[in-house]
Amino acid sequence: MRMVDIIEKKREGGRLSQEEIEFFVQGVTKGTIPDYQTSALLMAICFRGMDKAETLALTLSMAASGDRIDLSEIPGIKVDKHSTGGVGDKTTLILGPIVAACGVPVAKMSGRGLGHTGGTIDKLESIPGFRTEVEREEFIKIVQNIGLAVVGQSGNLVPADKKLYALRDVTATVRSIPLIAASIMSKKLAAGADAIVLDVKVGSGAFMKTLDEARELARAMVDIGNGAGRKTVAVITDMDRPLGKAVGNALEVREAIEVLTGKGPEDITEVCITLAAKMLELAGKGDFNTCVALAKGVVQDRIALEKLKLMIAAQSGLADVVEDPGLLPSAAHTKPYLAQEDGYLKAVISDRLGVASMLLGAGRATKESAIDPAAGIVLMKKPGDKVSKGEPIMVLHANNQSLFEASVSELDRAVIISKEPPEASPLIIDIIE
Ligand code: URA
Repeated sequence: MRMVDIIEKKREGGRLSQEEIEFFVQGVTKGTIPDYQTSALLMAICFRGMDKAETLALTLSMAASGDRIDLSEIPGIKVDKHSTGGVGDKTTLILGPIVAACGVPVAKMSGRGLGHTGGTIDKLESIPGFRTEVEREEFIKIVQNIGLAVVGQSGNLVPADKKLYALRDVTATVRSIPLIAASIMSKKLAAGADAIVLDVKVGSGAFMKTLDEARELARAMVDIGNGAGRKTVAVITDMDRPLGKAVGNALEVREAIEVLTGKGPEDITEVCITLAAKMLELAGKGDFNTCVALAKGVVQDRIALEKLKLMIAAQSGLADVVEDPGLLPSAAHTKPYLAQEDGYLKAVISDRLGVASMLLGAGRATKESAIDPAAGIVLMKKPGDKVSKGEPIMVLHANNQSLFEASVSELDRAVIISKEPPEASPLIIDIIE
């Protein structure tokens, strides 16, 4: 088999066979296919697309390219969740404890943030002492004991994706639905869960900017999951507005604790209850409405909060933060961001808000940059709220005052105030089964 023939076939709009796709993925993994040929095929896929069978074959080959996590020692149906990335998205910190409190084990591997989007692992590491590097045996043992562990990715999980993603990033081939779907789902399949709930974000802060694109990506991923024998559901949620009020690592942990005490912002609470209920449904806990009631119940009774505490303790973190969030790192300086006119807060453009928070130290500009766990932004107003000139819309948190200026100028472009109240739009847009 020759790589040049595979590239040509796809360039002409042909359908690649399973053997051709396996040849490509194995060659990429072993390093026997040069980057220029890999890039050429990626670009041909961007233009010509892939059908359902090709996308499934690509995903399965990628998932088989490295280690696979075996969760079979943990009894019960293990349900994983993946979010396609957003600003202020602390859903894993809330969902994990809710689902585990309902008796469904959660063995989750999460990632770090890059650019304007945050990562669950960085958020958890803002808890003093919290360990995210946990060996496989201990990871399994924690889930067996308390039903919940969230750890960083370890081992050689989907090496083909690492190589392909690095090339896609520099060859303008990230935005292709089959490539995104295969990249995400190969990692989910290798991570070993029996069922998968996908939170596909749409809007300015998300990968998918339009609803049509988000639906198409959701459909592609659900088809892959089901084709691979894992029950899969996708929930499409709005990322045109930030989720919750906090952006930044320790600030988001604090907000997650608030949601688990039943006092969190409505939007993030609604998204988390919906996603948790879908996870519970896939785990066989009843129909959707029963599962919503179950999820709400464990928040109300503080059982989910107790689960979070147990997980923090099991991963060597300071569990007292749950009762006293004041023990989390806090920034030396704060600065209010004021409304520049009277009106209604029409929008806070999420990706710009993410960049503004990153500029305060909460995110990484490059993989190597260090992050400040205390830095970030807390919204005082949410889109739709009335604002008066000079009133604080948000509060910036930083350990170095010189960082405020660049962040404020990014916020000047993030905040839109209008004379008329904006139309309310739903947060949960669609569910693709
Ligand atoms: N996230 C991934 O893991 N892969 C993509 O291709 C896009 C988003």
